[in-house]
Parts: sequence; C-alpha cells; structure tokens
Amino acid sequence: MENVEWDDVQRLVLSGYPKLPFSAYVFWHFVPGEVDAARKWLRLLSGRLTRATGRGDQQAINLALTAHGLEHLRVSDGVLSSFSLEFLEGMAPKPTPEAQFPRRSNVLGDVGDSSPELWEWGGWKESRDIDGMLLLYAADQTKLRSLIDAEIGAMAGAAAPALRQNGEPLIIEGRVYDDRKEHFGFTDGISQPLIEGSPKANGKRTSDADNNKKLTSDEKRILLVKPGEFVLGYRNERRTSISDVYPERADADTEPKDIRRNGTYLVFRQLEQDVPAFNEFVAKTAERIYGRADEPAQEKIASQLVGRTRQGHPLVPIDCPPDAAPRNDFLYYFEDRFGMACPIGAHIRRANPRDTVGPDADTALRLSKMHRIIRRGRPYGERVGSEKEGTTGELATRGMAFIALNADIAGQFEMIQHSWLNNTHFGSLYAGTDPLGHFSCAGDVVTIQDRPTNHHVDRPRPFVRVRGGAYFFLPGIEAVRALAR
Ligand code: HEM
Repeated sequence: MENVEWDDVQRLVLSGYPKLPFSAYVFWHFVPGEVDAARKWLRLLSGRLTRATGRGDQQAINLALTAHGLEHLRVSDGVLSSFSLEFLEGMAPKPTPEAQFPRRSNVLGDVGDSSPELWEWGGWKESRDIDGMLLLYAADQTKLRSLIDAEIGAMAGAAAPALRQNGEPLIIEGRVYDDRKEHFGFTDGISQPLIEGSPKANGKRTSDADNNKKLTSDEKRILLVKPGEFVLGYRNERRTSISDVYPERADADTEPKDIRRNGTYLVFRQLEQDVPAFNEFVAKTAERIYGRADEPAQEKIASQLVGRTRQGHPLVPIDCPPDAAPRNDFLYYFEDRFGMACPIGAHIRRANPRDTVGPDADTALRLSKMHRIIRRGRPYGERVGSEKEGTTGELATRGMAFIALNADIAGQFEMIQHSWLNNTHFGSLYAGTDPLGHFSCAGDVVTIQDRPTNHHVDRPRPFVRVRGGAYFFLPGIEAVRALAR
C-alpha cells in the first residue's frame, strides 16, 4: 500500500470540517502585472493553509487555483500542459464559430436554464476569469467574518475578490446546519469514499466527530478506494498514476518538483434549488401513486427520489431499523437488483451504482470505484421557513455550493454527471434523468419500480439550476511554495 504524504495535502481532502459549520468561498483574480506580489502573497498564505495532518478545529483555510491563475504565475507551457484538458479548458469554454455550443457544456448538460450564457459567474458573460478561490471555515459567523476580512486584507496588491455584476464581491457562504440537512430536507454528507491508507481507513481517531465511528468490514470492502483516485502522484484503481502518464518531462531539470503531486482537482458548481417546486412535485406524486398526500406518503416519495429517507437511512438494506445510524455498507445487486426497494433512477443509485453497472456484481463494484468523488459541498442561502427568510422574501435564492474532489475530472465528476445522472437510459430505464439533477429531456419522467407495474410520473422541469461554476486545482502545500518562487 502506498503512503500518501498527508502532511503536504490540504485538509479538505480528508475532512469536510464538520466542527466548522460556517464557511465562505471567496473567488478572486490576481492583480494584472503584479506577479511578484502574487508570489509573496502565496508564500505567506502557504504557511496558513490547513494541512491534512493539521487539526483545523478553530478555523481552516484552503486554496484552489484555476488554469488561468496558474498562467498568471508564469508556470511554463510544459508544466501547464501536464494538467488535464478539462481543467485547462475550464467548466464552460466559450462558444466558437466552429462550436456554437461547446462539447463540455453538452457533456455536463449545461443547457437551457443552466446554460453558461445565463450564469452569474464563471460562464460566458459575468465574472468569467476567476484565478482562484479561498475556502474559509470557522466555528461561528463572527469568526468567519473576521477570517474573510483578514484573508481579503492579506491579498491586497496581489489579488482582489472577483465582483458580481452589482459590484458586490463574489463570495458564497456555505453552512452546515446541526441536522446536516440540505435545502430539500435530506441529511447530506453521509456516503463518501474511503481513501486506502488514510487515517480513517487505518482506524485512527481523528478530530472530526463523524470520523470516529468504527468501520465494518463490509464498509471497508465497499468504500475503500486507492489514493490515486483523489490525490495526484499515487496509484489509482487502474493501477496507474500521473507519473506513469508523464514519465519524463522535457523541462525536468528546470522544474524539479511536479507541482501536481499531492494535489487534486476541485469541481465547484453553484446549484440553485427550487424548494417549493420540489415539495409540490413530491406532494402531487404522492397523491398520484398512493392516492393521498399526507406526511407518510410524501416522505415515502421523497425517499424514493433520493434513495435515502430525509433522516439519511438508505432504502436498502430493507431491514434497517429506523433508530440505527444511517448505514453505508450496502450494495444493490443481490438485495434489490430490480429497484423494488430503492428505485433504479434514485439520486444515490445513479450517483454511485455500487455493484450494479457491469457484467457481474464484483466487476461492477470494482469499476464503480473508478468513478467516485469526495463531496465537500454545503448549502448556501437561507432555509425555507427560517426567520431570516422572511426578511429576504420569497424569491430569495438558495442552493448547494457543490464541491467535488477527484484526480480525474473527466473520468469521475463528469462521467457521473453525464453517463449516470443525465442518462435517460441509465440502468435500462427508458426515460428520465436524476430527480435532483439540473438536466432534463423532453418527456422527462421519474420511474418508481413497483408490482404489478412501474409508476411513471412526469417531472415538469428540473428543481435545480446551475448558476455558476469552475474547475480548480487544489495544490499540495509544497506546490504552492514552488509556485510562489
Ligand atoms: C442540489 C443538488 C444536489 C443535492 C440536493 C444532492 C443531495 C444528495 C443527498 C441528500 C445525498 C444522500 C446523502 C449522502 O449519501 O450523503 C446525496 C448523495 C450523493 N450525491 Fe448528491 N446532491 C446533489 C447534486 C449532486 C451532484 C451534481 C452529484 C455528482 C455529479 C452528486 C453526487 C452524489 C454522490 C456520489 C452521492 C453518494 C451516493 C452514494 O455513495 O451512495 N450529487 N446527494
């Protein structure tokens, strides 16, 4: 087993900072021409970045850069081209005369209301060229404010927050609530891959409260994934690593350290959620399928859309007692191959089909491990019905500041989005896309398997809309220092 240099990895890879529920994603760009100032800022910042081996229980700071940001730091063409094409191209490449609608937007299903043409940032129009993002985490709102002010102060002269069209800084505040629920009302952040050799996989206690549960042997078998899927420079599930792909670099003498090592790619998507529309759909579907829209009927439909109850219990294993902690040691093939318990098109079954997509269950499980992501997203905006909501009005926007970490954006995040969530024929379904997804096709339906016949319910439109996004690189700490030299 390979030993990851955890001390050089940013802590976000190992932790979602559950003890620091207040967070801010500060998007910024470098000040044009001020490369020396940029390097000085990064050098000092590298000393404040929270490492995977650090505790991060008072506050945490992590840093991510876009390809545009790396260019500003005068990274050589040879080094830059060693990064993946999708990172270099960005999440929303601009249309060209040859490609009116870029391939990448098609792959992601960023069309219609979610087209980059309409994004608030990172799209084809507004605040396009983001150079980087600071991820700031604190224990309460006051501490978060001071941390934001201090870090924006520290970048003065070198970088500045990107601005929204209305002139306000582009900062998205993410929040983990005590019940860990996202805006549609489901407990989130339950199922994550487990990195082989990580402290949690080795059974070590960590400072994260949710990390201290003892893992069952089934959980290990199902969830353990090779480090190279999430940290560059190590073997992945295909038993290759970036050093195999690029064994020799032309500029190996002048650039002694591979700046990709101990880094990973970070996908950020601002996904707006229309909660009233989702709730209305749940109620109508309950009425239609169960002939009543009382709470138990609605809860049942809601859980069938996601694949877990709002409290987090998966619909398989079928015999899971409701008062037990939400489980994650389940598979579908032998327990629920035909989707009678957890619908085949449910969000979690599409996002991680576990042992169901492949020639047999074992191979399918092995293959699914090549397409995992670590999710670090948090809800943003006021909750429906919260006290503050009254002051911001009915039209207040809310959603998921979605963050995925992976070593291969095309093979992991994009593959999940394109081939599983957006796929109308996923798992032999004949129509419909992810019930929580932003993408839909004409004639979109939600299918709920049942006896004697399946239910098909029209989904009027997606309840999620992409409002912005970008691909980032989350460098190792040494790489930040190398970039600052
Ligand atoms: C607003 C949009 C979204 C919402 C509200 C949402 C909500 C949820 C919820 C409630 C769960 C179950 C709890 C858990 O296991 O943590 C979940 C699981 C998951 N979601 Fe999402 N999600 C959203 C978007 C996405 C997107 C865009 C992707 C990937 C492209 C994704 C990938 C996953 C994965 C991989 C899992 C874990 C599945 C498993 O391992 O069983 N989600 N999501």
